[in-house]
Amino acid sequence: MYVCICNAVTERHIGEAVSEGVSTLRELRTRLGVAGECGRCATCARDCLRTAMAEQTTTAKPAMTAFAPSYSLAVEAV
Ligand code: FES
Repeated sequence: MYVCICNAVTERHIGEAVSEGVSTLRELRTRLGVAGECGRCATCARDCLRTAMAEQTTTAKPAMTAFAPSYSLAVEAV
């Protein structure tokens, strides 16, 4: 879905920016131009930013869980 029509920015673009470290609307504006023209997309862009950050946090947890069992085995082996 397009979030910013003026700059042709989609939710996917915002998700990619978040995965590369963007965490504020200001950073998103600097990087993608979101809310830099008419500004009508600012609220939606902020919501997408928060959603993408929450999803990134959610997807990071399984990686930690996957690491934990091997750590436990390593400790048991010592
Ligand atoms: S729709 Fe994003 S600046 Fe206009």
